[in-house]
Amino acid sequence: MQSLVGRDLLTLGDFSPAEVNAVIERAIMQKRARKAAVGRTRPLEEKAVAIIMLKPSLRTRVSFELAVSNLGGTPVLLVGEGSAFSRNESVYDTVKVLERYCSMIVLRTFAQSHLEEVAAAASVPVINALTDDYHPCQVLADLLTIHEHKGQLQGLTLAYVGDGNNMANTLLVGGAQVGMNVTVACPPGYEPLKSAVERANEIAAETGAQLAVVRDPRDAVIGADVVVTDTWASMGQEAEHATRLAVFAPYRVDAALMALAHPEAIFMHCLPAHRGEEVTDEVIDSPASVVFDEAENRMHAQRALVSLLAG
Ligand code: CP
Ligand code: NVA
Repeated sequence: MQSLVGRDLLTLGDFSPAEVNAVIERAIMQKRARKAAVGRTRPLEEKAVAIIMLKPSLRTRVSFELAVSNLGGTPVLLVGEGSAFSRNESVYDTVKVLERYCSMIVLRTFAQSHLEEVAAAASVPVINALTDDYHPCQVLADLLTIHEHKGQLQGLTLAYVGDGNNMANTLLVGGAQVGMNVTVACPPGYEPLKSAVERANEIAAETGAQLAVVRDPRDAVIGADVVVTDTWASMGQEAEHATRLAVFAPYRVDAALMALAHPEAIFMHCLPAHRGEEVTDEVIDSPASVVFDEAENRMHAQRALVSLLAG
């Protein structure tokens, strides 16, 4: 048998029967060795994680790739149309294929029901990298950032100003989980999801967090320890941008609004920010702004999450 080093495989006929058998034997051996591996110090050693982005991403993509690499794993990036869930391949078939290669699936998609369908089909962990409804990895990083700056989470007051979107939904739930008071100020018709508010209230009943949805941004921000905003038009809502600019204009976080918060308040934004729309330069560039700590913490929070999920 010739050495296979440096050879092409264009059709199986390029190989002799002995060479084909050699490949199969090697695969059986390596698969056994991998399954037998125990006591890893790097929990993703020899494992791959599929990172599927069906919407644009900078922070989530980079921070997940680095987190997986840091844990010894291989990030497999599937970006945009034409990667996963393309060519009319069913969710079930796509997931069953991916889990033969990857020991975790990270997915950014539109409908929460799509993510749920993936998770229902998958035997490996599935992580939400943002849906229309929730952005849990962002809020894990946000909670880490608040803890770093304030030394605590329980009993703090967070004001979220603007669209009752995936960030508002997730901050309500995440805030409730850590006993933080969360007030969302949003215009009529742009409230957080009813199901998110209900879930957050259930949790708050146990942790003592106070939750509210109000109209006037000043009511939310007065005395707040943390002031948060987000884009007025999320991914998928680009066509509504002009309408939303008008609706949300009174919800811009500017220096006058920040002045109502606690004197030591911090400003947060998951980014990307639209300077001059939901936040002014003077706020996002002020000493109160921790937006880049927040971005960095995506990596740290996800590394913790992935290593815990990996066991
Ligand atoms: N904050 C956040 O999720 O950023 P990306 O959309 O760039 O991933
Ligand atoms: N609400 C925004 C968050 C971006 C990270 C969106 O869904 O586009």
